[in-house]
This record gives sequence, C-alpha cells and structure tokens, in this order.
Amino acid sequence: MSGPLLRVEGVKKHFAFTKGILFSRTLGHIKAVDDVSFDIKAGETLGLVGESGCGKTTTSRMILNLEEPTEGRILLEDQPIQGLQGEALRAYRAKVQAVFQDPWSSLNPRMKVGRTIAESLIVNASRDRKSGDQAKIAARVRELLLQVGLRPEQAEQYPHEFSGGQRQRVALAAALASRPKLIVLDEPVSALDVSIRAQMMNLLKDIQAQDNVAYLLVAHDLATVRHMANHTVVMYLGKIVEKAPTEQLFADVRHPYTKALFSAVLVAWPGRSEEEIELRGEVPSPLNPPSGCRFHTRCPYVMQRCSQQEPLLREVSPGHAVACHLFDNA
Ligand SMILES: Nc1ncnc2c1ncn2[C@@H]1O[C@H](COP(=O)(O)OP(=O)(O)OP(=O)(O)O)[C@@H](O)[C@H]1O
Ligand code: SF4
Ligand SMILES: [Mg+2]
Repeated sequence: MSGPLLRVEGVKKHFAFTKGILFSRTLGHIKAVDDVSFDIKAGETLGLVGESGCGKTTTSRMILNLEEPTEGRILLEDQPIQGLQGEALRAYRAKVQAVFQDPWSSLNPRMKVGRTIAESLIVNASRDRKSGDQAKIAARVRELLLQVGLRPEQAEQYPHEFSGGQRQRVALAAALASRPKLIVLDEPVSALDVSIRAQMMNLLKDIQAQDNVAYLLVAHDLATVRHMANHTVVMYLGKIVEKAPTEQLFADVRHPYTKALFSAVLVAWPGRSEEEIELRGEVPSPLNPPSGCRFHTRCPYVMQRCSQQEPLLREVSPGHAVACHLFDNA
C-alpha cells in the first residue's frame, strides 16, 4: 500500500426529498454531503466537526459502506469499497468497525456481553477461520474485556448491569474483536458524564498506540478533537470549510465559521478577543443551500462575491486548507 489507509475522494450524498405517502414525488435533493475529500493515515485520528446536520454521520455511514455515495469514491488501502460483495464485503467490515454515541444501539439487551463480543468475533472471522474452537473464542473475549479496562468475569453480565461508560467500553471491545484498521467513532463520549469522558478518550488513545488502529472521530466538542485528533476537518452544510493538522488549526484558525465554532466554546486562539464571532440564526436547509459560499447568510465578513461564487478549498500553509474568499490571494 502506497497511499493513506483511507481515501475519501470528491464524495457526495444527495437524498431525494419526496412528498406524498402513496404517490410520492421528488421535490428536490437534500445535499447532505457535497464534494468532500480527505485522507486518514494508518494509526492516526481524523476529527470531523461541525454543527448538527452538516453531514458528519452521513460521511461516516458511507465510509462504513452502509450508504452508497451519489458521486465520488472511497478507497481503503487503495481499493475502492463500492460494490464490494460476499467475502470481500465481510473482509471490509472486519477492517472498518464503528462505535456510536449510544452503545445500546450495538448491544443486545438480552445477551450477555461476552456473547455479544464473541458474536462480533465469529461474524467477522474469515470463512476458513469460522469454526474457531470455543476455548479460543472465550480466551479472546477475556483478552478484549481486559484491553478495554473491564474484568473478564464481566462477560457473564447483561448490558443493563453496566454503567454508561462501561457499556461504551463493551461496544469498543466488540469493535476491536476483528482487529480493525479503522474505527469510526461517532460522538463516542458525548453521552458520557464529563468525569468519565477523559478516561474513555485516554483508553482510545492507549488502544491506538498498542494496535496502530486509525480513528475517524466525529464530535461536536472541540476539546475532544483537540485531545484526540492528528488532523481536523470542519464541515458546514455538507462541505469542508477548513482542514488542517489539529495543532495548526488551534494555533491559526482561519475560516470565519471555524472561528465561530471556537468562539462558542472556551478555546483560545491568537487574536481571539478582537475576532470572536457569534453564530446567529439557524443553519440553512440543505435542501436549498445558499448560493456561493454556504456560510454567507451568517458570516460577519460577507462580501459581494460571497453569494455569487463558491470559494474553493485552497492551501494557506502546508496541509492547512480553507474555503473562503478572504484567502483568494493567499
Ligand atoms: N436517510 C436520509 N434521508 C434524508 N435526509 C437525510 C438522511 N440522512 C441524513 N439526512 C439529512 O442529511 C443532513 C446531514 O445529516 P447527518 O446526520 O449526516 O448530520 P450530522 O452532521 O451527523 O448531524 P448531528 O451532529 O446532528 O449528528 C441532515 O439535513 C439530515 O436531515
Ligand atoms: S467566503 Fe465570504 S461569506 Fe464565506 S466565509 Fe468567507 S468571507 Fe464569509
Ligand atoms: Mg450525526
């Protein structure tokens, strides 16, 4: 493999917006994701941030091969993932796993957690390793529970016997069972008490250091991204507005929307006091996104060309790209 672990190339997802129950007609398309490109390197974390509805989960679902892009392509280890079937699709699912905000969504309440983890092992095993004997499976389940900071005997318990943080650890153990190369973490700590968020984030970092697994980390919370991500991508209404190595972004935030996101929380950046931007109004509908720059209806720096011409994502320094007319001559 020469390139990055995962490559997302010009990906779009447009959902038909229909009206009527019996005879539905298409009234338009919701541009949930509209021409998004980024790479994730092996063993690294890419943070994906933006307000509710900007397309983070839709992007994740396409990477998980649960949703087909309308346009563009996604490659894992240089191989396009669209159209995978049978054994190739199973192998892909084993390599790319997920942990969602609500661990209940991946846990069966009527199943002991050890069995849930064992099933993940069995489902993701290749055909020639499917038969794996019981003792080996039980040993691997114990090992996974230890890896996520739980006790092996907790395999005998049901999900309701765990706290929220522990349930998220069980979901992580199930995701790790197939030794994935990438785990999509969609708001993995948002539902947890603040006091246990840091523990979960540190656990994720330790596991990454041990297993060299990459993460796509979807988060509202900039502190989580700062703590976890090597690179950060900021989305607004289906588009990338800024992407950079995380340290670089926090040291030198450029896009007015990113500044507004940072202003909403206690994140310092050089020049913050003069430039705090309050995000006013609602996010416009992705059914009829604003012309030109999609942020122009809320941007305090809006210029005439902003509503007419779409700004391209261009590099303002190595690895740091911004889509805004303020940087047209950068
Ligand atoms: N299956 C679908 N059919 C139609 N529209 C959809 C579908 N899935 C998502 N959308 C729309 O696409 C847009 C992006 O949704 P998405 O769930 O990706 O956002 P998000 O960034 O994950 O938001 P949140 O932070 O609230 O989780 C939203 O306007 C949403 O309503
Ligand atoms: S292109 Fe114009 S409207 Fe868009 S963020 Fe830049 S200045 Fe604001
Ligand atoms: Mg989401």
